[in-house]
Amino acid sequence: MATHFILVGLLCLCGLSQSNDCKRELLVNVDFPGADIASLFSPDAEHCQQLCTQHSSCLFFSFLRHDWAGDNRQFHCYLKFTSSGKPKVETSLLGITSGFSLKACNPDPQPCLSQVYHHVNFPGGDYRTLFTADYEECQKACTSDPACQFFTFLDENFTTADIRYKCYLKFSWPVPRIPIIKPVPVIVSGFSQQIQMPQNHYPACEVKLFPNSDFPIGNIDVLPATSPEHCQTFCSAHPLCTYFTYISHSFNCYLKNNAATLVLKAVKGYTSGLPARFCQPHNDWIKKTYVGLDFPSSDIRYFPTNDVEGCQRACTEDNNCQFYSYITNINRCYLKRVITVPAPPRVVKEANTVSGFSLRDCYKDIVPTIPVNKH
Ligand SMILES: *[C@@H]1O[C@H](CO)[C@@H](O)[C@H](O)[C@H]1NC(C)=O
Repeated sequence: MATHFILVGLLCLCGLSQSNDCKRELLVNVDFPGADIASLFSPDAEHCQQLCTQHSSCLFFSFLRHDWAGDNRQFHCYLKFTSSGKPKVETSLLGITSGFSLKACNPDPQPCLSQVYHHVNFPGGDYRTLFTADYEECQKACTSDPACQFFTFLDENFTTADIRYKCYLKFSWPVPRIPIIKPVPVIVSGFSQQIQMPQNHYPACEVKLFPNSDFPIGNIDVLPATSPEHCQTFCSAHPLCTYFTYISHSFNCYLKNNAATLVLKAVKGYTSGLPARFCQPHNDWIKKTYVGLDFPSSDIRYFPTNDVEGCQRACTEDNNCQFYSYITNINRCYLKRVITVPAPPRVVKEANTVSGFSLRDCYKDIVPTIPVNKH
């Protein structure tokens, strides 16, 4: 008992622990079998831990490392949940690293991912390619492009000779996507007022919209959105989106890629528009509350509150919350979130490739110093 208290005291002194639930340590060659809620790809256990941290209900995880020899599931990151909050079983297993969500550790919503992975390819998410002398230069190309989340570089010994030195810049959504938007009369939904949005340093602008218009050609993605302005935020964040069409009765936001032509067709209830990449659109859609709309799924937690304002305030004050739904007839507030950390759609072993992430979030805390004149 005495030892236990000393340990807790030490942890608090070191600032490692915000609460008793903050467990950062990774358990090497340990498996937490079962209790899976999702399986995603990840290049290492630290990144898998970030995926678990940002997943609404993940409490712990098991990651199958590059040296996992059981089958071909290397780089699989299994997100897990039990109602007790603890793994049911803990077994020792070579090639697997397990650990816990950092939700209780006041996590950085945009963590620095500085690791590079040799002989690892991140297939998918491509939006631009160029040729660079080495992987460091490819990583710099990624870091300097606001749309780039991760990259893959093919080095001088890559098997296919004519694509050696090729640098692939890749995109995954840094903006929270609401999985489902559904009309439900007794529900009011909305967003955290601290929601993480890609920022640019340009002045504010008006949103250019074409009411009752469809841009019919060039779909690249469709995702739920609350309004044409919300849809524009998605288009502005996606490097391949040249314009968009929003269908108000289905809450569907269609992102389009067609750099050649802009064909406009009159359709009632459709709103089309252009992205805002060199100005800051008024993000009024974040401030609004949406009466009669439900954002089901992705719940972090729920609790009773008297009104929707209280629910919005709770979401804004909770670092983990991105959006919420409030059930008016039972006065219950649901806080919600989705993963926004850069997430390669696949991770595979491949000789003579190097992959990694943008270093943008590694520099955000560095305050530029003003040079002092020396006399
Ligand atoms: C490419 O292969 C040569 C010869 O095996 C080796 O010396 C060199 O380090 C390799 N380059 C890279 C980037 O791995």
